[in-house]
Amino acid sequence: PPVDTFDYIVFGGTGDLTMRKLLPALYYRFRDGQVPTDARIIATARSPLSREEYQARAQQALHDHIPASALEADTVSRFINLLYYVSLNGAEAQSNWADLRALLDREPATRIRVYYLATSPALYGQICENLSKQGLVTEQSRVVLEKPIGTDLDSANAINDSVGRHFPENHIFRIDHYLGKETVQNLIALRFANPVFERLWTSDAIDYVQITAAETVGVEGRGAYYDNKSGCLRDMIQNHLLQVLCLVAMDPPVSLDADSVRNEKLKVLHALKPINPSEVAIYTSRGQYMRGHVNGQTVGSYLEDLGEGVTSETETFVALKAEILSWRWGNVPFYLRSGKRMAEKCSEVVIQFKSAPWTIFANKPAANRLIIRIQPDEGVMLSVSTKDPTPTDSLTLREADINIEFEKAFNIRYPDSYERLLLDVVRGDPILFIRRDEVEAAWKWIDPILQGWSKNEAPLEPYPAGTWGPEGARNLLAQSGHLWHEDMK
Ligand code: BG6
Repeated sequence: PPVDTFDYIVFGGTGDLTMRKLLPALYYRFRDGQVPTDARIIATARSPLSREEYQARAQQALHDHIPASALEADTVSRFINLLYYVSLNGAEAQSNWADLRALLDREPATRIRVYYLATSPALYGQICENLSKQGLVTEQSRVVLEKPIGTDLDSANAINDSVGRHFPENHIFRIDHYLGKETVQNLIALRFANPVFERLWTSDAIDYVQITAAETVGVEGRGAYYDNKSGCLRDMIQNHLLQVLCLVAMDPPVSLDADSVRNEKLKVLHALKPINPSEVAIYTSRGQYMRGHVNGQTVGSYLEDLGEGVTSETETFVALKAEILSWRWGNVPFYLRSGKRMAEKCSEVVIQFKSAPWTIFANKPAANRLIIRIQPDEGVMLSVSTKDPTPTDSLTLREADINIEFEKAFNIRYPDSYERLLLDVVRGDPILFIRRDEVEAAWKWIDPILQGWSKNEAPLEPYPAGTWGPEGARNLLAQSGHLWHEDMK
């Protein structure tokens, strides 16, 4: 069913995120009948464009990012009709607010307004202040913040304080697009609807856990953001991987109410054992890609991607060992890793169970492994030991997989993560968004690692593009006799 009608006001309306993700996501939901036909999408940016010029750009973006089979001409033209454009510098008090106000005033003030900030986070506070001074923050207004929320705890607090002066916490939607992924939400279903897993979901049965988000792409054209203020730890681990860790490790929430879930996630973040700056060499490995081969193509190094004559100590790969100080997870390491220019594009969670304490067979049964594939090839796989059917004179074991491939099982298109999230904001449901205290707890844990690295306590290791990262990542697990997934095959 459609959501209540709304105005989506996008700051950064000509930017890459809007064109690549937001407009296609809203289009799909419009096509599925979930966006009311009188909703409006009002893009704002500094460029002096007419409404028609903006609509033409948006139409091109849909063609660039959506397969032709999903673009029916009539649906596209009705969707394009929902688009408006206001040339405005949201960070400037003296800018063209009158046009935006006039447009918004055409509808009753009770209409849901979503202010989506797809701009530099440095502008979030000023944009919110201007919205508020212009009297545009109504009771039905929400604000959506894209990551990164800061580059450390202090800067995150400054952003959250400045936005919080104008919007109450329950109207602030901090996006982590990993939570919009079907398979990430499926972690909740898998764990809390299947006692067969949840009853074993403790250190009694689990040896260790791996969470990987590997990409084959390099830094692409994002060097200015990535190299100056980010790197892999801030870009992927602080948010996406810690969120996945929370969903894997949290206790069962009492309900699916947003705060019940977020309270449980927060407990996990609070229970993370701090990694002190002097310990980063023991708990972390960081790398930067060199020239190499990805999918049969020769690709340049990170430094070459940044531009000629540039030097940089920014990491494009991180592996780390996290420990959760709780009854459930005592002595179960959670290995997290993410990197660019890796051997494969693959995000997954691997639950490595403990091996059988004794064997009566000719060979030792392999420990069970549950693999939750977040993307691509979304699915769940459990490795089990079975009788080897080849004729032998003893009962020998062989490993086989119980495998669910979701696309085949359900025969449905997997929606992009933004589709669900954008309409959740309209519905006012914050379950898949990050509460302020979660952002703070995550940065509190990340900051000392950054401090250790800035003192070069863990040297940056180069790795060839198209591999699984530096040797240090393998050693991190080898110390405990553990292996990364690809080394088990
Ligand atoms: C973004 C990061 O948040 O997530 C990017 O800024 C990264 O660097 C992207 O490429 C990965 O998202 P996905 O959905 O492709 O796994």
